Amino acid sequence: MCAIAMLLKLCTRLLIFEAIAAFGARHGEGFHALAGGGAEVRIYAPHAQQVSVAASWNSWMPTDHLQSQGDGWWMLRLSAHPTRDYLLRRGAAYKIHIVSEDGEAYWRPDPWSRKQDGETLGNSIVYPDDSFEWSDADWSMPDWQNLVIYELHVGTFCGHEGWSGSATLDMCIPKLDHLTELGVNAVELMPVAEFDGEVGWGYTTAYPFAVEHAYGGPDAFKRFVDACHKAGIAVIMDVVYNHLGPMDLPLWRFDGWFENDLGGIYFYNDERAETPWAHTRPNYGLQHVRSYIRDNALFWLDTMHCDGLRVDGVSFIRLWGGSETNRSSATFNPDGELMLKELTEAAHGLQGKMMIAEDLQGNATLTQQVSMGGLGFDSQWDGGFHWPVFHVLAKAKDKDRRMERLKAAILGGSLQGPGSLLRRVIYIESHDEAGRQRLPAVVSPRGREDSWVAARLAALGSALVMVSPGIPMLFQGQDFLVENPFSAGTPLDWAMKTTHTGTFSLHKDLIGLRRNLLNTSKGLQGEGVNVTIDEDNKVLMIHRWHVGGPGDDVVAVFNFQRRFLSHQEVDFPFQAEWSLAFNSADARYHNSATVFHQETESSESLRASAGTNMFLHPYSCVIYTRRPPLLI
Ligand SMILES: *[C@@H]1O[C@H](CO)[C@@H](O)[C@H](O)[C@H]1NC(C)=O
Ligand SMILES: *[C@@H]1O[C@H](CO)[C@@H](O)[C@H](O)[C@H]1NC(C)=O
Ligand SMILES: *[C@@H]1O[C@H](CO)[C@@H](O)[C@H](O)[C@H]1NC(C)=O
Ligand SMILES: *[C@@H]1O[C@H](CO)[C@@H](O)[C@H](O)[C@H]1NC(C)=O
Repeated sequence: MCAIAMLLKLCTRLLIFEAIAAFGARHGEGFHALAGGGAEVRIYAPHAQQVSVAASWNSWMPTDHLQSQGDGWWMLRLSAHPTRDYLLRRGAAYKIHIVSEDGEAYWRPDPWSRKQDGETLGNSIVYPDDSFEWSDADWSMPDWQNLVIYELHVGTFCGHEGWSGSATLDMCIPKLDHLTELGVNAVELMPVAEFDGEVGWGYTTAYPFAVEHAYGGPDAFKRFVDACHKAGIAVIMDVVYNHLGPMDLPLWRFDGWFENDLGGIYFYNDERAETPWAHTRPNYGLQHVRSYIRDNALFWLDTMHCDGLRVDGVSFIRLWGGSETNRSSATFNPDGELMLKELTEAAHGLQGKMMIAEDLQGNATLTQQVSMGGLGFDSQWDGGFHWPVFHVLAKAKDKDRRMERLKAAILGGSLQGPGSLLRRVIYIESHDEAGRQRLPAVVSPRGREDSWVAARLAALGSALVMVSPGIPMLFQGQDFLVENPFSAGTPLDWAMKTTHTGTFSLHKDLIGLRRNLLNTSKGLQGEGVNVTIDEDNKVLMIHRWHVGGPGDDVVAVFNFQRRFLSHQEVDFPFQAEWSLAFNSADARYHNSATVFHQETESSESLRASAGTNMFLHPYSCVIYTRRPPLLI
């Protein structure tokens, strides 16, 4: 057992080595303390006339000069030295000192910094990576068709009840109990790379290789990932490569050179620099920029043991210009496409790592293999699911809820086809929507978020996410009906979990079905999907199957009307014995405020076929699983 685990680990190491060798070795850019003492520094600064390190060990005098390698790179090897090595192991502070072509001197933090002191353009801190003992050697990610993702923001999710302030990654570890109880097996962290300040969504990455100091820095991140793996939870990191900063950004005019008032050697210095957030789009046409980004991805996946990456704003990488909301007027950027292909190829050089694009253009090319002309992502966020479902749920009048729109969203539009189950991540709430308005608040007719209508419609949204083909994702607090918009400065209201225990149980049961924990619902992990609708009665039926048969076929029936339907004709796919596995109207999913008094039971089991008459509760979903024929 142990020998096999060791062998596997060795194989993985060899694969990693090969992957890196194939892309040219990672040279250890930036400042690296060496295990045997001493350190190595490599810095890219083609327009500098001098590059040095200034630090506590040389009294902050820029006297440790790097040698120009002639290709824009500068290098220095500091030999072992007892006093200096002592300071290095203890995390000495340092900066890169650059003298530009025209003689200006600049003090820069290290662009590859692993740890920052938290000050604006502050000192970098030496961080030896070997200082952490990992205990996740036996970990492997759950099968992707079995994943249920929970998106969270460290600063607001991880505080305990009554906490005010930004939480840390160490405070996230006790929260894993909540997630395992719920049944999710992957977390997606909103960006934790060091950004300006201490409170934020994280999409203003300034130091892509450093973990936000307010979240506890690199050791806290490793403790968190290790604990997740122990709890059976994969970690997906959100990374931002479509722009950087713009605040507190060490790369900005790094060696003094720039054009058109723009960012210099790491950025476009023309109109391609413009993004909706800052004029800091990296110049993907340059080898050193692509290496910087690719090495950053490998850093999270390999050094930090993450299981996957969610690449933010991909349509702002492969396209430039155009409006933020309508990308069809944007211009194709071949540099960006090349960078993305190299990125996914490099990530796949490591075993089993998942690459997810946030592109939101419904473009199936993204998840095709690079060798087939695609961009090589494994999955992508599907706006074509989330927007229509959200809008149908948000309608004030039932007659305006169009089942045809839901059907198209469920079937996956342009993202259907072989492998469609994994091609997209589906959700109704993510940080973006939740940052504006949360679903329960939107659908609540009288603004009373705990009214039964809000709870019922929000439940229908979550049920659709769990029974449609795709990788389901929830946003923090969706599992206990949080209705206040997400804000980076406001801790998640954990008291809501106590108020809405029913909603929590509902999500737990839906996740159990999606993950086939009882061996009754394999079909939810299969490619088979048929949808039938009754537009007049606002009824929708989804049939899902893997290979089909008992324990496999699943039928979900939704009533999107506020009224009871006592004789709704539902076309079950074929005659079989079906058991009720879930009923969103069940009293245990609702507190007293959300129970509707007239409820009666749905049939626990039925022999159903095309044209079966069913009783459906207002705003409800029932899920039936196929069971073996009854022995008489
Ligand atoms: C987006 O822009 C294109 C080209 O400018 C235009 O044809 C299209 O109608 C726009 N779409 C939307 C939804 O505004
Ligand atoms: C889809 O993305 C690919 C890769 O960037 C691009 O070549 C293609 O033009 C895109 N298709 C559409 C319809 O935008
Ligand atoms: C489901 O099936 C698996 C594999 O056949 C088995 O290991 C597991 O015990 C079953 N679980 C239940 C709840 O029956
Ligand atoms: C799915 O729907 C199509 C079209 O109605 C039908 O031909 C097919 O038999 C259905 N598949 C299953 C497994 O029910």
